Amino acid sequence: MNVILHKDQTIKDFGEQWLRYTNSHGFYGSIELFSDMIYPFLEPGDIKNCKVAEIGSGTGRIVNMLLEGGAKHIIAVEPSNAFEVLCRNIGQPEKVTYLKIAGEQLPAYGDLDYIFSIGVLHHIQDPAPVVDAAFRALRPGGHFFVWLYGKEGNGVYLALIRPLRVLTKHLPHYMLASLVEIMYWPSVLYIKFCHWLPLPLRGYMLSILEKMSPEKRRLIIYDQLNPSYAKYYTQFEAKKLLSDGKFVNIRIHHRHGYSWTVIGTKPS
Ligand SMILES: C[S@@+](CC[C@H](N)C(=O)[O-])C[C@H]1O[C@@H](n2cnc3c(N)ncnc32)[C@H](O)[C@@H]1O
Repeated sequence: MNVILHKDQTIKDFGEQWLRYTNSHGFYGSIELFSDMIYPFLEPGDIKNCKVAEIGSGTGRIVNMLLEGGAKHIIAVEPSNAFEVLCRNIGQPEKVTYLKIAGEQLPAYGDLDYIFSIGVLHHIQDPAPVVDAAFRALRPGGHFFVWLYGKEGNGVYLALIRPLRVLTKHLPHYMLASLVEIMYWPSVLYIKFCHWLPLPLRGYMLSILEKMSPEKRRLIIYDQLNPSYAKYYTQFEAKKLLSDGKFVNIRIHHRHGYSWTVIGTKPS
């Protein structure tokens, strides 16, 4: 019961978020960021002419990155009200099939080369059915690529954000947006200090957050505080997610020392 409530509320939270933050301009939606996300396991060229799905597409920035990488066809899955924004935002709609369903309802195509799920599974309380659906939709030898919040490397951040989230996940938009505005300015200062001091999350601050526009930095803060459910994975848990789903040759990378990229292959 609790799992269902969380699931519905998280999808509702994202629907509201993405109806307010609709574009993916700048570095936030760039192929440069996509290359950084999929490093060191993949390069954008690896998806050229491939049949691909993305689970949890939000407003479509990853779908557009996959199109720029040359994917032949993309299945874009988004269960929330962001679906209408997603459909509007895509550059080559003839190459995309849009599905307003939850990840676990992904049809068992059995012929997909890659499935991506970036920033999604850590917002699902029971992600195993989504991993199982991805397994069924891939062709034998196809790959499932996942990006997750990490626990390791986030100790100080989590000590601050967890107590804050108890309150912020219940706030209405205008109050949360005001709080984000207050937090934005210290974050600008923090990034500056990261140039001189070995502060927590320094790698992420300098390689990613500093390259974002002020608008997107605010969105990223909002995105941390808004969703009802967010889990920070240990390395063990992140690998287990895919190994429990029968994936093999699982590889994991501690991206910028604060998050996990995991890739697994469906056995041939
Ligand atoms: C943080 S956003 C990431 C969006 C996109 N992947 C990106 O990186 O821009 C997480 C998305 O996952 C979607 N989501 C939440 N629960 C889901 C589920 N059970 N199945 C599929 N998508 C889900 C949300 O609606 C939201 O759009």
